[in-house]
Amino acid sequence: MRMDLMRIVFDEQRRAEMRKKSFQPTEGKPQGGLKPWREVVTPHPDVASGRYQQAEFAADLWQVDQGEGSDEYKHPTEFFRRTFITVGLKRLMSQALLRLSGKGGDPVVELQTNFGGGKTHSILALYHLFSGTHASELPGVEELVKDAGVPIARNVRRAVFVGTQVSPGRTHRKPDGTEVRTVWGEIAWQLGGKAAYERIREDDERATNPGNALKELFNQYAPCLILIDEWVAYARQLHGGADLPAGTFDTQFTFAQALSEAVKTAKQTLLVSASRPRRARTSGPTRGSPTSKSAANGAAKRWPV
Ligand SMILES: Nc1ncnc2c1ncn2[C@@H]1O[C@H](COP(=O)(O)OP(=O)(O)OP(=O)(O)O)[C@@H](O)[C@H]1O
Ligand SMILES: [Mg+2]
Repeated sequence: MRMDLMRIVFDEQRRAEMRKKSFQPTEGKPQGGLKPWREVVTPHPDVASGRYQQAEFAADLWQVDQGEGSDEYKHPTEFFRRTFITVGLKRLMSQALLRLSGKGGDPVVELQTNFGGGKTHSILALYHLFSGTHASELPGVEELVKDAGVPIARNVRRAVFVGTQVSPGRTHRKPDGTEVRTVWGEIAWQLGGKAAYERIREDDERATNPGNALKELFNQYAPCLILIDEWVAYARQLHGGADLPAGTFDTQFTFAQALSEAVKTAKQTLLVSASRPRRARTSGPTRGSPTSKSAANGAAKRWPV
């Protein structure tokens, strides 16, 4: 009884102390003669020198994956130094840590925000989180990893697809000579090179869905991180009936569903996709994002970031 009482008293004291601390920085008595903020804050050198280029400050997953662009997007340490870890981003990263370690976590996530709301930035955060860089070199990440209770999974295979950068109208020749046509061909090749591509080659050549082969592929190369940006922009180019190497709009939808299912049932595999929000009502095959169907089936979790 006495011990319980003591515990309550200590608890109260600790809480009162914390309250005091959190008010302290804002309480103070401002002195006269403070400098205006414009004299205290210095803008980023690019802005100050007038060399500011909007394009340089646009988060671009494709560029980063190609090793191009400015350091603040390309370099994992610099990226996290400039990243504000919002509640949504923290949740996304924590879930990804769990999923790729095989300790739970959501397998399929579709990011939803308004234009410029941070979808690409969130995808980049995952790309860098699993880049093989130690948490101590990623500002803000060490604490997040500690809170999540699992270390960053090692040797994660990453596959990146950016819809605005890939033409569905032609085959894409890889440095090892592999010719890729479809999104599934691209993902397989990025995860495991020629050998992985061979497993689904026929489906890539015929632009048909690889079905169960996807799950087997993910299991073989796990942990796998699949990041898809601007998927809708890509799907829009697949007009019905057109004979494109990448397949039709319908095959894309079926693939989105098959991909979600495969990722869900495979071990240590995570799919994160971003697509611009849907217009209120449009007609024809351009409606919705390729994961909308699977989201409706409960396969994809829609997350605001
Ligand atoms: N958490 C964050 N910390 C720091 N910068 C951020 C953060 N989230 C977004 N940004 C920055 O805000 C800008 C817009 O974000 P981003 O490009 O990721 O949005 P988006 O949702 O992908 O936009 P769009 O719909 O146009 O594709 C970018 O310059 C990005 O780097
Ligand atoms: Mg974007």
